[in-house]
Amino acid sequence: MARILTGIQATGTPHLGNILGAIRPAIAQANDPANESFLFIADMHSLTQIKDANALRENTYAVAAAWMAFGLDTERSVFYRQSDVPAAAELAWYLNCFFPVSRLELAHSYKDKMAQFKDSGAAASVNTGLFTYPMLMSADILLYDAEQVPVGKDQKQHLEFTRDVASRFHNAMGTEVFVLPEAVIQESVMLVPGLDGNKMSKSRDNTLNIFDDPKALKKRINKEIETDGTALEDPKDPDANPVHALYALIAGAAEAEHMAEQLRAGGYGWGHAKKALLEAVVDGFAAERDTFNRLMADRGALDEALRAGAERAEGVAHEVMNRVRVALGYGAR
Ligand code: TRP
Repeated sequence: MARILTGIQATGTPHLGNILGAIRPAIAQANDPANESFLFIADMHSLTQIKDANALRENTYAVAAAWMAFGLDTERSVFYRQSDVPAAAELAWYLNCFFPVSRLELAHSYKDKMAQFKDSGAAASVNTGLFTYPMLMSADILLYDAEQVPVGKDQKQHLEFTRDVASRFHNAMGTEVFVLPEAVIQESVMLVPGLDGNKMSKSRDNTLNIFDDPKALKKRINKEIETDGTALEDPKDPDANPVHALYALIAGAAEAEHMAEQLRAGGYGWGHAKKALLEAVVDGFAAERDTFNRLMADRGALDEALRAGAERAEGVAHEVMNRVRVALGYGAR
């Protein structure tokens, strides 16, 4: 039984790319009885970017509702909001005191942000929270004795920092209090094309938001996916735009092959294909959409689920923090 932990960015309502690429596989792993899973919404990390109380709160709710709608078993997994267990901030402070500035300056995430600000010529500067982001992330992980941390490639360096800072702490204090986590890098993340054919991402504004109502979905599919003017009766290349690829991801291989044959044969237009895609999205995710909407209309239920998760998380965090505090010469609490 491995203890697996992952932090989920709270950047708003998850879109199809998030769901197929990250949420579904993570839920399958979390619901697997062979694992013990800790999943949390990283709303303290969000503060490095978002200074808007309402947005912070709403993003967290939307993420929680999406994970629960897609079947995360919140009894089995420990599912919580990072800010509900503030011990992470305490531990991050301690870790800060063991990690050299010169190493943090080498963080890709930080260097990228610095470069962006330089390019944009913006007067705003990188805040200190962004700089020490990897220490809060290390605290998230070390606070729960996590053994495995499934993350994307972009987070690999952060996991190296986590192991590094834990070892530095051990060496400096002469006692081992942390479990050194392993990164589990997901190499083959499902590629979900956006409506413009590029990788689906919020920043590109090319997302398909499956929780939207059918009318909004229809408008989005019809307006945002550009199709060429090949005459209805002419044969079409299924890969000329992302309609067929998206349909394949949602409707499955057999249905997708059928659509491809019709497109190649001619007499079947992109309008037909878009209609089929719309139906697949509307019907294929009907149950999840219902649950999502029900949860979003009942913040009490979401709060209750997250609070229960935080309580369980806190139980583990409390013990680990006592080991840390005693090692540092502070008292256990
Ligand atoms: N930094 C991670 C990301 O951008 C999110 C995250 C925060 C995280 N804390 C974590 C991931 C701890 C794994 C473990 O995706």
